[in-house]
Amino acid sequence: MISKFTTTILEWFSRNARDLPWRQTRDPYAIWLSEIILQQTRVEQGTDYWWRLLQRFPTVEDLASATEDEVLRLWQGLGYYSRARNLHAAAQQIVAKGAFPATPEALRKLKGIGDYTAAAIASIAFGYPAAAVDGNVYRVLARHYGIQAPINTTEGKNLFTELANELLPHSQAGAFNQALMDFGATVCTPRNPMCSDCPLADTCIALHEHKVDSLPAKLAKTKVTQRHLAYIYIKCNGYTAIHRRGAGDIWQGLWEPVIISGWTENSNVIQLETAPDEQHQYVDLNDIQVLARDVRHVLTHRILHADFLYAETFARPALPADYIWVPEAALDNYGMPRLVEKLLERLPSRT
Ligand code: ADE
Repeated sequence: MISKFTTTILEWFSRNARDLPWRQTRDPYAIWLSEIILQQTRVEQGTDYWWRLLQRFPTVEDLASATEDEVLRLWQGLGYYSRARNLHAAAQQIVAKGAFPATPEALRKLKGIGDYTAAAIASIAFGYPAAAVDGNVYRVLARHYGIQAPINTTEGKNLFTELANELLPHSQAGAFNQALMDFGATVCTPRNPMCSDCPLADTCIALHEHKVDSLPAKLAKTKVTQRHLAYIYIKCNGYTAIHRRGAGDIWQGLWEPVIISGWTENSNVIQLETAPDEQHQYVDLNDIQVLARDVRHVLTHRILHADFLYAETFARPALPADYIWVPEAALDNYGMPRLVEKLLERLPSRT
């Protein structure tokens, strides 16, 4: 069943479609060029480039046999030059294949083509029923259907993609996709949308619930920080030193080996990590080995980079009061962060 939303959008498009030159052709090559240009360029700026590229390279074979330098020269001023390099490489892929790919799956194999561009080309050039879903489409659907799902999560993206595909009229996929593009670009704009002139105003949930400005929703992403840390596993007569992490930081309550804040390669001295208000404390050890450097461990809001050192000693060095010496064979009884486990796996031998 074709929804009221879909008929209204198609009807609006039949009267308001922007007059764009790539809409006068069914040549997949010319349509592909337009979609690559429009990936990161506005229509007003991109149109001249589309004409110039087509004039110089009328067919995909012409583009494939050009030099990359010439393609880049024609692209000059558009920015995001990987698009030009990918375009050139994809032209060679198409020529080698012998035919222009006609399905989203086959188009996705070409350099520079993602889900959106594959669906756009397949639907516009070949009438393939696939919804091309980008920021414009998220916005129009989120507002009209009052959808709160955040558009910057996988679940949100999947939900909008499914809805767009349900709304897609299979016999007019290209027109529907381009209708949503134009509608999002001219009526249902990010700021100051033209709700008073909108043909979907009657059924727009965001308009009726005063949520036009707050939709589509985005999940606030906290910044991921990078942090460096270093451990030393000190082995002493079958025992090793560990301590329990206190409150106020990650891994509260878990155990870890000696954590150090400073160490210079080829030196026997390490500086222990101490609380900011405590005196620096140093330990002198012979023969410090580096077991691993820069082991990456990804947490929700933090990426850790850990160095792991190892030293064997006959006398227990003095450590801050919270460290305990435990038999190495009993280490499994102490809960440890996954990062520390990764480091323990690199120990030469525990006994
Ligand atoms: N943006 C991306 N593709 C487009 C197209 N085919 N027409 C208008 N704007 C677009």
